[in-house]
Amino acid sequence: MIISILSADKKYGIGKKNGLLFSLPIDMKFFRTTTINHVVAMGENTLLSFPNSKPLKNRTHIVLSADNTHNYEGVINVHSFSDFLNKIKEYSLKEDVYIIGGASIYNQMIPYVDEVLLTKVDEDGGAEVFFHNLDEDDNFECIEEGEPIDDNGHIIRFTKYINKNKVNI
Ligand SMILES: NC(=O)c1ccc[n+]([C@@H]2O[C@H](COP(=O)([O-])OP(=O)(O)OC[C@H]3O[C@@H](n4cnc5c(N)ncnc54)[C@H](OP(=O)(O)O)[C@@H]3O)[C@@H](O)[C@H]2O)c1
Repeated sequence: MIISILSADKKYGIGKKNGLLFSLPIDMKFFRTTTINHVVAMGENTLLSFPNSKPLKNRTHIVLSADNTHNYEGVINVHSFSDFLNKIKEYSLKEDVYIIGGASIYNQMIPYVDEVLLTKVDEDGGAEVFFHNLDEDDNFECIEEGEPIDDNGHIIRFTKYINKNKVNI
C-alpha cells in the first residue's frame, strides 16, 4: 500500500518556515514506530529538515529534488515526479511505502495513496503550508478516529482516511 502520514491543525495547516507547527512527542513516536523498517518517500526539503539533513535510521528513503545535481548519500535520489512515482510503485509491489512530506509531495500524491494516517491537532498553528482538506473530498472517507490525547499540551487525535477512488500508478 501507499500511505501518507502527517499531522495537521484544524485548518489543515502542516508547516511554517520549513518546520513543523507543534512539538508532539507522542505523535513523533507514532511516526517512528509506524515507518520503521519501511520505505519512506519525500521531497528534498523534508530530507533537509531532518537532524544534520541525514536520512532517518532503519528506513529506505526515496527523495525527489528538481535539481539533478542534488544527490544525497544513503538515499535513492530521483529528479522527476514520474521517476518518483515509478520508484514508489516498484517498492509498493513488495511492501508498504509511506509518504512523509512535505506539503508539495503530500498534495501531488493525493490521487495515488491508499490511505492517509492523519494526526489532527485541535488548534490553529498559524501555518504557511497546507494539506488537501480530506473532509471536503468525497474520494476520502474517515474510517478511524481515536480519542483525544494530550500531547505536550496539545490535543491530538489519530485518524485514518481511505481513498475510495485511488488512481493506480
Ligand atoms: N505536518 C507534517 O506532518 C509535515 C511532515 C513533513 C513536512 N512538513 C512540512 O512541509 C514543509 C515543507 O514542504 P515543501 O513542499 O517545501 O517540501 P518538500 O515537499 O519536502 O520538498 C520540495 C522539493 O521537492 C521538489 N519537488 C516537488 N515536486 C516536484 C516535482 N513534481 N518535480 C520535481 N521536483 C519536485 C521541489 O523542487 P522545486 O522547489 O524545484 O519545485 C523541492 O526541491 C515544511 O514546513 C515541513 O515542516 C510537515
